[in-house]
Amino acid sequence: MISFVAQTENMYEILLRSHSGLRWILLAVVLGAIFRAFTNMSSGKFTPLDDKLSLFSLIFAHIQLLLGFGLYFISPFVKAAMEAGMGVAMKDAVMRFWLVEHLTGMLIGIALITVGRIAAKKAATDQAKFKKIAVFFTLGLLVILATIPWPFREALGRGWF
Ligand code: HEM
Repeated sequence: MISFVAQTENMYEILLRSHSGLRWILLAVVLGAIFRAFTNMSSGKFTPLDDKLSLFSLIFAHIQLLLGFGLYFISPFVKAAMEAGMGVAMKDAVMRFWLVEHLTGMLIGIALITVGRIAAKKAATDQAKFKKIAVFFTLGLLVILATIPWPFREALGRGWF
């Protein structure tokens, strides 16, 4: 029993650190893809680098999704909110954030990045590919930024790393 609890705590620590660190890598590739999309949208050529940037945005976003789901089922913050019950949790800003807002926002953000990558793949011209990435990735990033546990939201008690 004790070793099961210790293993869950280790798993929690590993998932949380990975989930926390991966956000920076995801941010870097998504920003890179968006920057190239906006600067090349009018006449640039869609190069293998652009393909890789959108591919790795998709891959890292999906790994972040898996890590997030892993955390969702063992996080003490989500557990506390679930135990409190929907009625109570929805009235508490911190509980509501971990139970609903972070999950929903990230799912929408990741879905937008996924749709953007697929739409860019299917687009016939380089300009259309850049436009799809510019629109969908920017919207996705905005939703992700809106539902991140920012360190300045003090009640959430999170740091930068
Ligand atoms: C682009 C996607 C995502 C980003 C950038 C992101 C970012 C973050 C960050 C920065 C933290 C705080 C980490 C820390 O305290 O060091 C966090 C915590 C957390 N995330 Fe995400 N997240 C994403 C997706 C998701 C998804 C889809 C889920 C759920 C299915 C999720 C569930 C969680 C949970 C449960 C925690 C808190 C764990 C705890 O402290 O007990 N995340 N996330």
